[in-house]
Amino acid sequence: MDLLSDKWIVNVVFCLLFVGNSNSVGNKIYINLNETFPCVRLLNATHQIGCQSSFAGDVGVVHLLESEENLDWVLGSGPNPPYMVILESTLFTRPIMMKLKHGSQRVAGVVVVEPTTNPPDGFSPHTSCPNENTGVYSESYGPSYAHCNVTVWNPLGTGLSYEEFDFPIFSMKDSNDTEVLRRCYREHNRAVNGSTPQYPLCAMQLFSHMSAVRDTATCMRRSEIPFSLTPEEVCDPLGDENVWASTKPLNNTAKGHKEGESVVIAAAKMDSRSFFFDVAPGADGTATGLVALLAAANALRNATAELNRTILYTFFHGETFDYIGSSRMVYDMENNQFALDLDNVHSILEVGQVALGSNSRLWLHSDPVSRRNSSVNVEKLASNLHLAAAGLNISLEEPNVTQPLPPSSLQRFLRARPIPGVVIENHQASFTNKYYQSIFDNAESLQLNYSPNLTAEEQLEFVTDAAKNLTEVATAVARGLYLQAGGHPAGMNAVQADSRLMLYTFLVRGKNSWSEQLVSPELASQLKDRPTNFYIGVHQQMSEPRFMVQTILANLTGTIVNVTKENCQKQKEDEEDLYYYQWVQGPLRPNSTERDSFCVRSGVRRFAAKSPAFVLREYTS
Ligand SMILES: *[C@@H]1O[C@H](CO)[C@@H](O)[C@H](O)[C@H]1NC(C)=O
Ligand SMILES: *[C@@H]1O[C@H](CO)[C@@H](O)[C@H](O)[C@H]1NC(C)=O
Ligand SMILES: *[C@@H]1O[C@H](CO)[C@@H](O)[C@H](O)[C@H]1NC(C)=O
Ligand SMILES: *[C@@H]1O[C@H](CO)[C@@H](O)[C@H](O)[C@H]1NC(C)=O
Ligand SMILES: *[C@@H]1O[C@H](CO)[C@@H](O)[C@H](O)[C@H]1NC(C)=O
Ligand SMILES: *[C@@H]1O[C@H](CO)[C@@H](O)[C@H](O)[C@H]1NC(C)=O
Ligand SMILES: *[C@@H]1O[C@H](CO)[C@@H](O)[C@H](O)[C@H]1NC(C)=O
Ligand SMILES: *[C@@H]1O[C@H](CO)[C@@H](O)[C@H](O)[C@H]1NC(C)=O
Ligand SMILES: *[C@@H]1O[C@H](CO)[C@@H](O)[C@H](O)[C@H]1NC(C)=O
Ligand SMILES: *[C@@H]1O[C@H](CO)[C@@H](O)[C@H](O)[C@H]1NC(C)=O
Ligand SMILES: *[C@@H]1O[C@H](CO)[C@@H](O)[C@H](O)[C@H]1NC(C)=O
Ligand SMILES: *[C@@H]1O[C@H](CO)[C@@H](O)[C@H](O)[C@H]1NC(C)=O
Repeated sequence: MDLLSDKWIVNVVFCLLFVGNSNSVGNKIYINLNETFPCVRLLNATHQIGCQSSFAGDVGVVHLLESEENLDWVLGSGPNPPYMVILESTLFTRPIMMKLKHGSQRVAGVVVVEPTTNPPDGFSPHTSCPNENTGVYSESYGPSYAHCNVTVWNPLGTGLSYEEFDFPIFSMKDSNDTEVLRRCYREHNRAVNGSTPQYPLCAMQLFSHMSAVRDTATCMRRSEIPFSLTPEEVCDPLGDENVWASTKPLNNTAKGHKEGESVVIAAAKMDSRSFFFDVAPGADGTATGLVALLAAANALRNATAELNRTILYTFFHGETFDYIGSSRMVYDMENNQFALDLDNVHSILEVGQVALGSNSRLWLHSDPVSRRNSSVNVEKLASNLHLAAAGLNISLEEPNVTQPLPPSSLQRFLRARPIPGVVIENHQASFTNKYYQSIFDNAESLQLNYSPNLTAEEQLEFVTDAAKNLTEVATAVARGLYLQAGGHPAGMNAVQADSRLMLYTFLVRGKNSWSEQLVSPELASQLKDRPTNFYIGVHQQMSEPRFMVQTILANLTGTIVNVTKENCQKQKEDEEDLYYYQWVQGPLRPNSTERDSFCVRSGVRRFAAKSPAFVLREYTS
């Protein structure tokens, strides 16, 4: 996992040097920056976006941009191009970046200094109409809703993440290292009162070694790749695996329609994105929905005997990029390559961005087009959710029936057929999330605050207001699913969720005393001492969110079986039709570094989250 990205972080080295008029290099200061994140190049069939990173070593004279007027020095009047532009984050705006893009022959690279707190006015480098061309609304389906005509979902979106740049762009934590850069600029390069700065000038060189990637990755023809990531000539299709589990074991070897099976799909996405690869914290955008659904699955663990419909929990990967995960599931269901088909699907409940605002209100979004068909019973699902929320500290409302669905996986199912579905969100119309798919959609934006005197272990246990709020949401989701799956209202109040440990694990520290118990010993080193990076990786690598979700879901929905490690492995082979067996580390013994490991049996499954278009290409070649 993380091969590509970790190599980048480790190997990005800035070298501060001094250039003289004969290009002679004076003294060099090497600064090894640990926390530097690159913008990377992505390709689809027709376009490329992101950054050209000529990793051989870009050199430029350091220019600290202090204001927008100052751009003229970089783009026109400065005598020593190309410049390595250091941008304070407030200047990392679309107008400035577009000017730099158009003057790219004078720009060696851009370094964006991350602020220590989130910008209060919001920031979103994503487009204002996410997944505009790949949802359900089009010229042939609700044309008046297409292209965000009725609601612009992400009004703060600048679209920067979809621009192409010919120079490398990095983000860098504000630290003593950035202070060194600033000082070097002020002391040597700053033009005082219009005078030309004298040699030697402070310059910066950036290198990175990509050999590990170059050796292992295979490059494919561009036309074959719906979306791919490419550092220089190396490219790999974006993709990983979706994760699912069900309240009742389903034979996963027998594909296609299952007679008598009626499932309620409970969906969330598990990926996010930002301008920079490797920092996609997706707190409200991804983690809230994901955690609420995981917590709901846990809350329903004991109730499944009371349900006459099966609940299918699905966690879609790559939704950011043209709904890779959900479109693959629909494709597989239509082609008898999934354990169920679309005829087995009763209804769909999707959990989107659900961080509660001060009014504790959530909105049940549905599709006005399919609702015109009276057989599409959205009302039942909506009324079950209202009933579920009745005793809780949240209020559920429905937006105007003339409003289309926000960007959601449900749209991909509706492209196939009219299925009753609801998407729960914290916004009535435009997103309330001011940081959609940016590095600022983080724990801070959810006010996930811990008193500094708490140890990591105390923080894990501490119940923040954000966790309390999300637990209410998760409980409503669980009770709504319970009713929708045929549970009796009288049994509903026994269903109670808890989101605390997961919220901490995804948004603060992936490696903690709880998560360490859930992983298998071989994968323990994959737990990271930082927030989860929700960026989907390239195919063949296990991405962080998929690894975390599959590990946690097995614990939350599985049972312990009392067998040895060898037998755990053996049962995995014998019973793979129905179950997934995993040997996990388990808890530490008191005063010891030894663990009491055990075998967990669950119905957790994975299947490719790779665009169906890509599969089709593969089959024809
Ligand atoms: C950067 O990494 C080096 C070596 O890995 C370590 O000694 C140093 O403390 C790190 N610096 C920061 C700011 O994390
Ligand atoms: C490729 O991406 C560009 C920019 O986002 C978009 O305009 C175009 O429609 C995409 N092409 C395909 C074939 O998806
Ligand atoms: C946009 O929506 C309005 C109604 O809100 C409708 O009158 C108009 O025709 C729509 N525009 C397009 C291009 O469909
Ligand atoms: C940063 O600089 C300050 C003042 O020069 C110093 O006290 C501090 O220890 C430095 N921090 C690191 C991580 O080097
Ligand atoms: C699952 O389905 C396969 C293929 O239909 C069948 O061979 C197998 O016996 C089934 N397994 C169970 C446990 O029912
Ligand atoms: C499920 O039942 C077990 C045993 O009765 C109990 O210990 C556990 O707390 C219950 N779990 C939930 C999530 O209600
Ligand atoms: C929790 O919800 C309450 C309203 O129920 C709201 O006032 C508060 O701001 C929320 N807190 C957090 C941290 O989300
Ligand atoms: C719902 O939308 C219709 C048509 O745009 C509008 O006339 C009506 O006032 C809206 N209702 C509410 C409650 O916003
Ligand atoms: C941490 O500080 C808070 C006040 O900010 C105090 O109430 C609490 O007892 C302290 N906790 C510990 C473990 O010291
Ligand atoms: C499930 O049980 C409910 C009553 O609790 C009943 O109304 C419904 O028809 C049943 N559904 C199925 C699929 O058996
Ligand atoms: C899940 O993890 C908890 C806490 O580590 C542990 O007590 C429990 O036994 C685990 N359950 C399963 C089924 O793995
Ligand atoms: C597990 O199995 C072993 C041997 O079969 C037995 O001695 C032990 O008591 C069992 N443990 C539990 C928790 O059931």
